[in-house]
Amino acid sequence: MPEEPGLFEVMYTCRAMRRIKPDPVPEELLLKLADAGNHGPTGSNVQNVRWVIVRDAERKRLLAEQNRKYITAYMAADPVVELPHHPQAKRDRMREAVVWQMEHMHEIPALIIACLEFAEPQADAARAGGGGYAWPAVQNVLLAARALGLGAAPTTLGLRDRAAVKEILGLPETVEAYCLMPVGYPMGNFGPVTRLPVRDTVHWDRW
Ligand SMILES: Cc1cc2nc3c(=O)[nH]c(=O)nc-3n(C[C@H](O)[C@H](O)[C@H](O)COP(=O)(O)O)c2cc1C
Repeated sequence: MPEEPGLFEVMYTCRAMRRIKPDPVPEELLLKLADAGNHGPTGSNVQNVRWVIVRDAERKRLLAEQNRKYITAYMAADPVVELPHHPQAKRDRMREAVVWQMEHMHEIPALIIACLEFAEPQADAARAGGGGYAWPAVQNVLLAARALGLGAAPTTLGLRDRAAVKEILGLPETVEAYCLMPVGYPMGNFGPVTRLPVRDTVHWDRW
């Protein structure tokens, strides 16, 4: 077992890995990812993060179909404007990877869906109380995957149709899905993520 990279190396090379090989991921590793997720914080330590890890071909196909529907709409609407920190060529590469993921999502060995379980049904998932509790767990999964040499990416578009996703995953009324991470062995290499220079983002003492 190669030595795990250090935390900062993991964080700085944890890019969205969308091109994933179909080779299966051992169950122990998938549980390790969920456990890393569970070690993130939740408000009042309620620990209401739950995971649905989809390996079944038919359910993956149904989720891939959802993703395709909303990615297609997003792509059609997105004017692909160049951002100051993200040049056109890089945006084009990102779109190509998004399309690759859309075409192959059903072949990716595991789709990990981060959910929250509430005491009561939530009227609106987007505003569901404490919805943010899922995100530290998601980031822990992404970092843990990177540390273990697995590729993953956070996705949300395929979860837009709440009713459809609940049906596919058999979620109880009190459970909401927040993020779908396709996980497996990456086809490419873990490159450095490019982010804004820190001094462009920090204000000392007040804005
Ligand atoms: C809340 C959230 C939602 C996202 N939704 C999607 C998505 O639906 N589909 C997708 O391909 N990527 C999605 N992403 C991934 C981002 O596009 C990606 O993290 C960003 O472009 C940075 O990529 P990099 O880490 O490779 O630089 C999402 C990321 C976040 C944080």
